Amino acid sequence: MKYQGIIFDLDGVICSTDEYHYLAWKSLADQLGIYFDRQINNRLRGVSRMASLEIVLEKADKTYTQAEKDEFAESKNTLYRQLLGQMGPADLSDEVRDTLNALRAKGLKLAIGSSSKNTPFILDRIGLGGYFDAVSDGNNITHSKPDPEVFLKAAQMIGLDPSVCLVVEDAHAGVEAGVNGGFDTAAIGDARDDERATWHLNSFSDIMGAVAD
Ligand code: BG6
Ligand code: MG
Repeated sequence: MKYQGIIFDLDGVICSTDEYHYLAWKSLADQLGIYFDRQINNRLRGVSRMASLEIVLEKADKTYTQAEKDEFAESKNTLYRQLLGQMGPADLSDEVRDTLNALRAKGLKLAIGSSSKNTPFILDRIGLGGYFDAVSDGNNITHSKPDPEVFLKAAQMIGLDPSVCLVVEDAHAGVEAGVNGGFDTAAIGDARDDERATWHLNSFSDIMGAVAD
């Protein structure tokens, strides 16, 4: 078996938080009188909170101070976390849970590599708190995807070289980060057809094909 570890992005791979991100950014944009739609929201996939805010503010007709930007990001996050409060174990699909268990049964190390600072909160909500062998997230990195830092730290935490880890991603920025870090990548969802990916998954359980002997 080529791979000894799998590093999963969280949002859009393990569970779906897209709608909550959209609603929270939309609410902030509406308050500021800035145009925002789902297409712009798609550009925020895999991008850190502050870098996402810069994209949201691209359509503003004035510039804001750093203090104002910090306040906007904080206000978006407060609403986002309120919305995340609606999530529970039912938001972890049977397919994702069964596939994770099957990968673990094959002896693979399983880690999270996510840009989100809300990763521990989300994992707890969906019943996966403490499940992964390592969690590398927005709280322990200084460079956002497409920088490979979050995946390199995850690989280090599980004691494996990138050459024996597979990164699973739904964002183009995340596929790029994986490639930049020397990982094979499996692209799913929005990024499925990304030509830089090693594997193109129609469904989460297709990972089993990528780790077959
Ligand atoms: C990523 C999401 O997982 O986390 C992005 O795809 C989001 O859309 C980023 O901006 C940061 O999330 P958070 O929870 O730290 O604001
Ligand atoms: Mg994602």
